[in-house]
Amino acid sequence: MTATVRTATLADLERLLPQMDQQFVFGKGRSISLEERFPAVYCTENRANIFVLEEDGKVVSALASKRFEWVCPNRIWSGAMIGMVYTHPEQRRCGFASYLLDRAIERLYADGVEFVVLWTDQPAFYARLGWIAADCGVLGVLGAVPSPSEPGGNVARAPAHAADIERIELIRRHRCVRLLPRSEKDYGQLPPPAKTVDILLWGGGIDHAAYAIVGVVGQVGILYEMTGNPEGFSLLWADMCRGHGRILANDMKGSTAQSWLAENTGLAWQDKPLAMWLPLSVHAETAGFSNWYIPYFDRI
Ligand SMILES: CC(C)(COP(=O)(O)OP(=O)(O)OC[C@H]1O[C@@H](n2cnc3c(N)ncnc32)[C@H](O)[C@@H]1OP(=O)(O)O)[C@@H](O)C(=O)NCCC(=O)NCCS
Repeated sequence: MTATVRTATLADLERLLPQMDQQFVFGKGRSISLEERFPAVYCTENRANIFVLEEDGKVVSALASKRFEWVCPNRIWSGAMIGMVYTHPEQRRCGFASYLLDRAIERLYADGVEFVVLWTDQPAFYARLGWIAADCGVLGVLGAVPSPSEPGGNVARAPAHAADIERIELIRRHRCVRLLPRSEKDYGQLPPPAKTVDILLWGGGIDHAAYAIVGVVGQVGILYEMTGNPEGFSLLWADMCRGHGRILANDMKGSTAQSWLAENTGLAWQDKPLAMWLPLSVHAETAGFSNWYIPYFDRI
């Protein structure tokens, strides 16, 4: 193979993004480009984390990565998530994506990354390359949403504003055992197939407050995260029910919110094993990935 792996230039991205949009968004009957959906990934600041493979002067394969801090009770880890692994349809099965993944990971490792993670419904492709499947994620589904018993008007519903974001980050630091801190740009993320994301906020201050992050596509509400004082959960849930005919909920099995939802709503739960991990440092080999849950909202 005469392939070279390098970070993407602006010109690469201009050529690649339409193909990747077709593969990952439009070709699946969804709308809104990757650039708009993942503003913290496809931006100038993150270009050093987007890798391409060039063969005979042509880019044939690409992947995006995004660095993050993973704050655990005893330690802060340096992680990277990987997404949008892509090879041009005519060049598939030549080993390009596998080679690109390996080289990209080598570079992330050299840059201090201790583990990488991705979410896939094609685990066999990554398992051959040494990735480990481990996930404590669950999906709750409620087909016919009942009329809420709680009164409305107690919850603020808005796209994320800087002041709300600052407060939500403080609530998260106060409540979450493990945490992926988010920047303002991260709150601009729009996971497919959502067309908008609402932030629902209840209560005041930090201790007496709770929030929910909800993606919306048509009549469907997708709960990505509900955190804070459980006293606020019933009002947040009522607000979600008011706005949607069907609700999906992504959460970690046994979390405070998931336990509350399991007890108080008709959501039917199933395991959702999508995460695959690759430890890069000796410490990461014993990290216990099966207990780590990275919220759906953060994933690329
Ligand atoms: C998945 C994808 C990136 C693989 O790219 P590629 O350059 O063809 O991959 P490679 O040539 O490095 O690897 C191909 C090998 O992986 C295997 N493979 C490919 N897709 C696979 C899958 N879904 N499950 C299991 N194995 C798979 C092939 O059998 C092949 O193995 P072989 O050489 O022993 O026959 C490419 O098919 C693609 O762009 N698909 C559409 C986008 C996508 O689904 N991306 C993954 C999102 S998680």
